[in-house]
Amino acid sequence: MYTQAMDTAPKEERKAVRSAEEAALEQRFDTKLDDGGFIEAKDWMPAHYRKTLVRQISQHAHSEIVGMLPEGNWATRAPTLKRKCILLAKIQDEGGHGLYLYAAAETLGTSRDELFDALHSGKAKYSSIFNYPTLSWADIGVIGWLVDGAAIMNQVPLTRCSYAPYARAMVRICREESFHQRQGFDALNVMMREGTDAQKAMVQDAVDRWWWPSLMMFGPPDSESTHSEQSMRWGIKRISNDDLRQKFVDATAQQAQVLGVTLPDPLLKWNEARGHHDFGPIDWAEFWRVVGGHGPCNKERLAARVKAWDDGAWVRDAALAHARKQTTRQEAA
Ligand SMILES: [Fe+2]
Ligand SMILES: [Fe+2]
Repeated sequence: MYTQAMDTAPKEERKAVRSAEEAALEQRFDTKLDDGGFIEAKDWMPAHYRKTLVRQISQHAHSEIVGMLPEGNWATRAPTLKRKCILLAKIQDEGGHGLYLYAAAETLGTSRDELFDALHSGKAKYSSIFNYPTLSWADIGVIGWLVDGAAIMNQVPLTRCSYAPYARAMVRICREESFHQRQGFDALNVMMREGTDAQKAMVQDAVDRWWWPSLMMFGPPDSESTHSEQSMRWGIKRISNDDLRQKFVDATAQQAQVLGVTLPDPLLKWNEARGHHDFGPIDWAEFWRVVGGHGPCNKERLAARVKAWDDGAWVRDAALAHARKQTTRQEAA
């Protein structure tokens, strides 16, 4: 669901020396993008464009499957059968999003094994939001409302990303994300309208804990975002981190009023002159701490992924043995 970490990799230098042929190909590539064209898997592309996309799409894929973990924590404790069915369907959707995205990254020539290796060794990033714990049932509603809500803001512009296989995957993903956002809002709305005082307090507590990490999902401020400028020029990124964050705050502030919850920011206020909400400063030290591996659940999340991979070894071995047997049979026929 989530693309925040795309801007957090170290800065890389572009190769200074290029052949004349490569320069001509790059010129054609740039013109195509300037004209609003799309790049397909088999088209020529600069190595740096390919690398940027592999990093972004794989971080996005990792975020989808790591994002299943905090919600999985509540699959056995959903309050009703209806809520359990909705939650299971949502978690399954996130797994599907991971699969589309790993497939999109593979079209760029990187194997799925390499992508998983990078995740399991801690080299690859995923969205930091999933390093926070889900302490109550209200957290599940708030994840849908705020986390999937922020994901939609981030991802709708990606349906126009210049790399077509990624853009196509995002069209389907965004449709499902909007269901995720609505089911979260609905779960919270029921608790706020029909719940006990304790349930209402539970919703407010969850909002208080998730609000600031949700704003961090849009990535560092534009002034500090190392990869943004190049990604904008290449049409990988269409709207800046700060503009998306503002859009999210404006939409969510109104929804919070409908729900009857208070967003935990005393400086949040409509600014008539700007036509937007002003909001308080984000604790970027916390953001970088969590990105750097020191959030509340970083170790737990990675350990759960590695365990799932190790426990699934027999399934992969069996599938490979079956595929080999099929090939041998076909060859013998
Ligand atoms: Fe997703
Ligand atoms: Fe989602």
